[in-house]
Amino acid sequence: MKTIRGFHRLKEAGEPISLVTCYDYTSAQIVNASKIDAILVGDSASMVMHGHESTVNANLDMLVAHVEAVRRGAPDKFLIADMPFLAHRKGLERTMNAVEKLIQAGAQAVKIEGLDIENPCIPHIVKSGVPVMGHLGLTPQSVHQIGGWVVQGKDQDAEALILEDAKILEDQGCFSLVLEMVPADLAQNVTLALNIPTIGIGAGAHTSGQILVFQDLLGMNAEFKPKFLRRYLNGFELIRDSLDTYSDDVKMLNFPSSEESF
Ligand code: KIV
Repeated sequence: MKTIRGFHRLKEAGEPISLVTCYDYTSAQIVNASKIDAILVGDSASMVMHGHESTVNANLDMLVAHVEAVRRGAPDKFLIADMPFLAHRKGLERTMNAVEKLIQAGAQAVKIEGLDIENPCIPHIVKSGVPVMGHLGLTPQSVHQIGGWVVQGKDQDAEALILEDAKILEDQGCFSLVLEMVPADLAQNVTLALNIPTIGIGAGAHTSGQILVFQDLLGMNAEFKPKFLRRYLNGFELIRDSLDTYSDDVKMLNFPSSEESF
């Protein structure tokens, strides 16, 4: 999928939308050659690429560099970029400067966590011609307020609030909505209540699509095994074993061979 029209088309056709995060050129080339529909250059880059404990360490320069690299590697995929921590909370001018940098780096849309009806940034960005993806449920940029990575929308009030916020985000012009770590029933209700597609992560099977973090679905982090994650590769062990084999070959003078020499 190259453009936002693909998003609308898949939703209308009732075909689930597959997204993955991506942060670097080499991985982007693989995603570009895959059946994945769209890419998010997420602020999870702060954790999986830079080793920080949360996404609050992502900043605009970091994400712009990742967007540029991913765009070079994946010219054929629709690319959404996260607005990093507080990038849309310091006034409209600074918000729009951040949007400008992400779009000029190669993103075609931005994702914004949460909703503050007193902050008119989402309608303004949309009216400026930039598609916005909403993000409700667990919003990791608020990890210090939430107190950890915990399922959201579990009681009736919290459920009603997420449903209400989802409708407002649709009214504000969001073209899709990420639902993170919410009960499957709630995600289904939100999906039924909206015309725009919902994209789930830890939100059950009844959303319009799914997103996973590239490194997580490839099993690159041996320790990270949340309930919602399915690992499609044991990347950590496969890569470590290949490195061990290479190291053994070097030490036993098995590499390089005469065919690998000039
Ligand atoms: O940054 C990220 O990886 C995300 C996804 C979890 C949706 O925002």
